[in-house]
Amino acid sequence: MGTGQDLLAGRVAVVTGSSRGLGFAMAGLLGRHGASVVLASRSDADVAAAVQRLRADGVEASGLRCDMGELADVEALREEALAHGMLDIWVNNAGASGVFGPTASTPVEDFARVVRTNILGTFHGSRVALPVFLGQGHGDLVNVYGQGDRGPVALQNAYASSKRWVRQFTETLRAETKGTGVRVHGMNPGLVITDLLGRVTSQRGYQQRLGGLQVVVGLWGQTPDVAAEPLLRLITSDAPEFRDLTAATLVGRGIRNVLAGRLRRRNRMPMNVTVLDAHP
Ligand SMILES: NC(=O)c1ccc[n+]([C@@H]2O[C@H](COP(=O)([O-])OP(=O)(O)OC[C@H]3O[C@@H](n4cnc5c(N)ncnc54)[C@H](OP(=O)(O)O)[C@@H]3O)[C@@H](O)[C@H]2O)c1
Repeated sequence: MGTGQDLLAGRVAVVTGSSRGLGFAMAGLLGRHGASVVLASRSDADVAAAVQRLRADGVEASGLRCDMGELADVEALREEALAHGMLDIWVNNAGASGVFGPTASTPVEDFARVVRTNILGTFHGSRVALPVFLGQGHGDLVNVYGQGDRGPVALQNAYASSKRWVRQFTETLRAETKGTGVRVHGMNPGLVITDLLGRVTSQRGYQQRLGGLQVVVGLWGQTPDVAAEPLLRLITSDAPEFRDLTAATLVGRGIRNVLAGRLRRRNRMPMNVTVLDAHP
């Protein structure tokens, strides 16, 4: 195993949902360590801009518009990667949160939107990458967990239960690929300062409860670049998973963030809340 720039030299990596946020940071991290990275999201323009930003940073990057809910798009993404000669790393990062509020009044189409990206998208990504990995006898598949992967989260049932599904799906894939040379990892990056937290939609009457989120993010939030870093250890080891949210991590980061003034009102993550009227 090499170090620094050449650690991933010659490897081809796909990161889904990589036009911004954690996915963009993960793609940059892999690219700066020598991998050729393939970016994707549902917006042509955003993918092109993200690819340009990484190229300007010296990273070998290409990209494709891809909706993870559409199997044909995801197959095309795999072909784009294979056009570089191989496929070594596939990160199922694309994710969406649902409207904040009780399940009993959740808009049905919103629940379906979350399921389509977080559940169907993770299945599609795994379904297209694994046959390549199994055929060549190696490859690293990384699925991204999130809040709810270990238990219920009131008022965020679509997102949280989808992440619990991602965990069980990933653990099952690990059991199915045991002894094949293919490694299946799960990663919970903790609280990351991205649009997923900063641009939220709430059912009317529940938006005030989001106020505390800015304080929580001020205490425990991380930039996408810092949150992406553990990915490197996952894909260069047999480690089954990374979990940011341990008690020791949270205490240490909480103290550092308080000392750095991240809790002060002027330093808080901006929040853009859209309020939806009730769905009986
Ligand atoms: N932020 C956090 O605190 C946090 C914590 C734990 C876990 N996570 C997980 O980390 C992952 C990345 O989240 P983030 O915070 O970086 O979110 P983000 O800033 O909202 O970025 C999400 C990315 O996914 C893309 N995307 C969304 N739906 C897609 C679809 N159907 N097909 C293809 N691309 C799609 C978005 O682009 P388009 O919308 O243009 O397609 C964007 O590039 C998610 O799986 C999330 O659940 C985040």
